[in-house]
Order: sequence, then C-alpha cells, then structure tokens
Amino acid sequence: MEQRKRVVEKDAPLKPDDLIVITGAGGFIAGNLALHFKRKGFKRIRAVDKKPLYEWYLHVPGVQNLSLDVSRAEACHRVCEGAAEVYNLAADMGGMGFIERNRVECLRSILINTHMVEAAWRAGARRYFFSSSACAYNTLRQQDPKVRALKESDAYPAMAERGYGWEKLISEMFCEEYWHERGLKTFIARFHNVYGPHGTWDGGREKAPAAMCRKMIEAMARKDFQISIWGNGEQTRSFMYIDDCVKGIDLITHCDALIATPINLGSSELVSINTLVGKVEKIAGKKLKRHYDLDAPQGVAGRNSDNTFIKQVLGWEPNTPLDQGLAITYQWIKEQYYNRMAGKRVGVG
Ligand SMILES: NC(=O)c1ccc[n+]([C@@H]2O[C@H](COP(=O)([O-])OP(=O)(O)OC[C@H]3O[C@@H](n4cnc5c(N)ncnc54)[C@H](O)[C@@H]3O)[C@@H](O)[C@H]2O)c1
Repeated sequence: MEQRKRVVEKDAPLKPDDLIVITGAGGFIAGNLALHFKRKGFKRIRAVDKKPLYEWYLHVPGVQNLSLDVSRAEACHRVCEGAAEVYNLAADMGGMGFIERNRVECLRSILINTHMVEAAWRAGARRYFFSSSACAYNTLRQQDPKVRALKESDAYPAMAERGYGWEKLISEMFCEEYWHERGLKTFIARFHNVYGPHGTWDGGREKAPAAMCRKMIEAMARKDFQISIWGNGEQTRSFMYIDDCVKGIDLITHCDALIATPINLGSSELVSINTLVGKVEKIAGKKLKRHYDLDAPQGVAGRNSDNTFIKQVLGWEPNTPLDQGLAITYQWIKEQYYNRMAGKRVGVG
C-alpha cells in the first residue's frame, strides 16, 4: 500500500533548558554525545545506562546520570518524562566476535527501542533518534572485499546480519511507523564502524581499530612483536571517528528532510584490515609479525558507506582522516593500558 505523506509541522527550536534524554550513555557513542550537547550549552541532559555508574566511560559534569534498564517499559516512561528530544543509543553490542556469538542478546535489544519509542511518543517528545547500523544492509551485497559502497536502498530486499542486523532493521521500521501513524519525528542513522577515545578497547566487545591498537601495545609490552589478525586481513571496512559521529547525529536529528528516513553515517575511506594494521605500526613505530587466524569471526568480506545522500541533504560527510583519528585513539588506549597495569580503575567494556 502506498504510504500517505504526513505534513511536517515546524516545531520550536531546541532551547538550552529543554530536556535532552540519551540512553546508552555509559557506553562509547552516547557518552560522547552527552559531552557534545553539554559543550553546546544545553543545561538539562539526562544520561541513562543499565551499567552501574562506576563502569561508565564518561561522567559529564552537570549531567543527570541514571542507572536504569531501558528494556523495561516502566523505566522508559521514567526516563522520557519531560523530554524534548530523545536519543536512543542503548543496545547490547560489540565487534564481530560479540555479535556473531551473541545473536540472542542482540535480538533482545528489540525490547529497548520498542519501549523507548513508545515512551518518547507518550511523553510528547518532539524528536526521537535511533542508532541503526550498517549491519542492517543486505549481506549478499557485501561478499567481495572490492565492495560497491552501500547506499540506503541496499537494505531491501532484506537479508541483514543475523541477530544484530535484523534487530536494527525492525527497530528502524518501528521508528518509521511512529512517524507515519503517530506523528513522532523520528531520525535513523546507519552507523558504519565508529572508533575513538572512551570506547571499548578490551574484553571481547571491542571493534577492529581499538583491537589492533591494543594488540600492538600488548606486543610492545611483551616484547614479542607479534599480532594475531582475524581472517586473512583482506576484509575491507571504513571507520568513522567519534567526533564526526556525534556531529552527524546532531545534524541528522535537526533536519526535517530526514524524518523517518534511514541515512548512512560513516566514513567512505575504505581500508583493508591489513592496511589498518600497517597504520597502527606506523603510529607505534614498530613492525609486527602477523599471524592470521582463519577460524576467527570476520563478518562480511567488504563494507563501505556510500555518502551521496548525506552530502546531498546535509552538505557534509564524516571527514576525519583515519590516520589522524587512529593516532589519537592509539594514545588514549595506551594510557588506559598502562593505567590498568598500575592498578588504576579503567573502563574496558
Ligand atoms: N560503535 C560502532 O561502531 C557502532 C556501529 C553501528 C551501530 N552502533 C550502534 O550505536 C549505539 C551505541 O554503540 P556504542 O559503540 O556506543 O556501544 P557501547 O556498548 O559502548 O554502548 C551501548 C551502551 O548501551 C547500554 N545498554 C545496553 N542495554 C541496555 C539497557 N537495556 N538499558 C540501558 N542501557 C543499556 C550498555 O550498557 C552500553 O553502555 C548502539 O545502538 C550500537 O548498536 C555502533
């Protein structure tokens, strides 16, 4: 059935004392998002995560931090009360190793968005953001390392990543229908691998850039100068620096042309995992002996972000060069590693 177009009414611009709610804020991206809004001068930010407060990566001064499980409807209503805007980034997730081995946990994240979008709508929030993923794309289009970059229409016909990707796809659909049927302005970004400081770097949920930095630091500490790489290293990906990610979330959520319209938020700088390792070697100033673990999880053969649409709508795309972002990330992980060795508390995952 053809979708009837809903008229987009103008809403009031966000004021500094409007309440912004951010879920998953004990984690990487949402923690950095809370920091972004705080730096922009917003005074009322409610940050929520199920982790106990001492495990959060970032404690942003002046932000209300709540330790609540938003897969439960009651908690979502409490969290969304009085919100002008809601950013839902809470999910059980991790790198390839995690999402391939924990499909049930990933699928259960459906409860989070299902209850959060309903609670945001009931609370009368003006805008609702959902963090989707490139894993929502049809995996059959990602079987060659020399990929054609993924454009937004490549999600359908659907053949998403099992578990994690299907949860994202159906949550996207919830967001789209809350606009079409109920008039809540929803925004959906499909993130492509995000990296940077204050992210997971150890413990099994870390993604490739953090994992490669940590493995290099460990190899240097052990003085054996060896590294294990999942797969043959020819898999290709693009990696978006965290500052681009939070800027993109803000731009997307305040663009009425993007209501209920999934959009790529990722870098289009495609590299193989071998190239990524080479970049880490250059930063550390040390070449490592590479061992390839062909039985390890490796995900799709290649994946890149087609940024035609975001450039057209926002006149911008994530543009921090990988060399630059990786150098900052490497230093941050090194600091975490040696702090932990010195017996200090650090967040890992
Ligand atoms: N990091 C990436 O490269 C990437 C790529 C694609 C999509 N995403 C999406 O972006 C979002 C944020 O990812 P991230 O990298 O910051 O991950 P993260 O694991 O660092 O943060 C997610 C946070 O959500 C919290 N959470 C999980 N279940 C919860 C619940 N029931 N109630 C409250 N909090 C809960 C976790 O405790 C965690 O702190 C997720 O939705 C993720 O799927 C991330």
